[in-house]
Amino acid sequence: MKYCTICGKEFPDDVDTCDSCKYRFDSIAINGETEPLSDKTTVFSPGSIIGGRYQVIKLIGQGGMGSVFLVHDTMLKDQKNVLKVIHPRLVKNLEALQRFIDEVIICQKLNHPNIIKVFHLDRIDNFHFFTMEFVDGISLREWFNRLKDKKPPFSLTETLSVIHLLLDALSYAHHFMIHRDIKPENIIILGDFPDIRVKILDFGIAKTLSPSKFIQMAQTMGTAYYIAPEQMNGVKNIDHRSDLYSVGMIFYEMLTGEKAVGRFSLPTEFIHGLPAEIDSIVTTALAPRADGRYSSAEEMKKALEEVPLSGERDEKPETISSYAVEASPKSFLPEKELPQKPRKTIAPAILILLALIVVCFFGF
Ligand SMILES: Nc1ncnc2c1ncn2[C@@H]1O[C@H](COP(=O)(O)OP(=O)(O)OP(=O)(O)O)[C@@H](O)[C@H]1O
Ligand SMILES: [Mg+2]
Repeated sequence: MKYCTICGKEFPDDVDTCDSCKYRFDSIAINGETEPLSDKTTVFSPGSIIGGRYQVIKLIGQGGMGSVFLVHDTMLKDQKNVLKVIHPRLVKNLEALQRFIDEVIICQKLNHPNIIKVFHLDRIDNFHFFTMEFVDGISLREWFNRLKDKKPPFSLTETLSVIHLLLDALSYAHHFMIHRDIKPENIIILGDFPDIRVKILDFGIAKTLSPSKFIQMAQTMGTAYYIAPEQMNGVKNIDHRSDLYSVGMIFYEMLTGEKAVGRFSLPTEFIHGLPAEIDSIVTTALAPRADGRYSSAEEMKKALEEVPLSGERDEKPETISSYAVEASPKSFLPEKELPQKPRKTIAPAILILLALIVVCFFGF
């Protein structure tokens, strides 16, 4: 099965032209430029101008949700930004499109040094895209790939510093939204230990998809094991503790080089010299039920702060300095007022209590 990149309609594999919009599946024309196109990708050629403003430098990556380009913002002195185009087939129904727009609008208002700054949301024809800060670092996925022969890949201190920065970002962002798709692909590491920085990408974008489509996509991309069990089971109203589960998975993988799937061994069982506290942090973060986990990113951070570092193993892995380069300039956009999370109200509880008192009083 293939999808028309323009109108999202599905076709059998042997069809080469969309019968609705006449789009040819092996190429795409944007501003007169064409480039070969594989089945499920959206490709703009280098030099193309998107939305009359963004000039494509190159394609920097493709995930399940869309394609990511490095662009020059010609309106802002050719500043380098990143532009992410969502696959048109994912936002072809209005509900999904609205969810995508709502989440990007919240992201635009997030303002935290460890969260990617989202700038501009726009569309051209059927291509919905947003622009964001460009960070010239290395994704955690790329790090895992580079260190795949090193067991364990990261030292305890390095792991703790990354996880701390992630939790800092989440304890801020969870006032406004849930990420839903914390995975190594969505984490970029900048700088060198001990002075690293992280940037979390793609806040809330996963919400564009229905829970079942999201799981299907994660399974196709091989990232489903970062997803909390309740999210895997399609529970609609998940909360911030699902993100904490994903952080627990990353914590375990950074420390051990293994994925915490099935009946996994505790970190101290196979990594010599780790403090015992690590085991209880892992089991709490990865509790199958959300109410067995840390109740907040803040609480998990506190537990990490209590881990003694004296027992750390001697051997240090390769450092980030050999690969990472400095980050891009800071966001220049003015800070916006953050949306407020709806306050929990106790009014319904008081009303029920009053009703009970009245019934008891008059009933007897
Ligand atoms: N703002 C950015 N700066 C630098 N690199 C980025 C930026 N945004 C994305 N990337 C890189 O582009 C690549 C593709 O990202 P993308 O989000 O499309 O893929 P993904 O995370 O694997 O899948 P998904 O679509 O589910 O998020 C990743 O390697 C990511 O590190
Ligand atoms: Mg991503």
